Amino acid sequence: MEKNIVLIGFMGTGKSTVGSRIAARLKRKFVDMDKEIERVVGMTVSEIFKRYGEIRFRSEEKLIAQKLARESGLVIATGGGVVLEQVNMDTLSWNGIIICLEAAPNEIFERVNRKKGTRPLLRKNLQVQDIEEMLKARESLYVQAEYRVNTSGKSPEQVANEIIEILRREE
Ligand code: S3P
Repeated sequence: MEKNIVLIGFMGTGKSTVGSRIAARLKRKFVDMDKEIERVVGMTVSEIFKRYGEIRFRSEEKLIAQKLARESGLVIATGGGVVLEQVNMDTLSWNGIIICLEAAPNEIFERVNRKKGTRPLLRKNLQVQDIEEMLKARESLYVQAEYRVNTSGKSPEQVANEIIEILRREE
């Protein structure tokens, strides 16, 4: 049974972009957890947060993690906060290789600013310092990953290549 490839990491580290590339290259199915939640609930992530709050979003996230962990051979891009619930990490690692994408705070800042308004946990007047603080608070959770890949200054293609190389070495 082929293990799932699970990308974790802070917002704006490129999980979805890189994940879909890896899936295309390896001819695997790609699943974006946020998109899956949006499909199931019938609302965008921002709408879910606004209408029902973060608790509802996290419970949907947990359910999707459980569902995906029962499948195999997938490439999964998680949402940046999947690590907040230890049970998600335990679930996703049953049958998955966990890879954490990392990036420098200023680069994350640039990237998330290009997609303003889609991430409810980031305030309107976002500063690099906010990102530094959130990263610090989550650092001990992201380091649980089996592999960590720095994406700063790299194209999605380069990051995808690096990950594919890691996976080859795993075989
Ligand atoms: C979140 C990250 C988002 C999304 C939600 C919460 C987080 O996903 O799941 O807004 O807590 O870091 P991306 O990492 O794809 O932005």
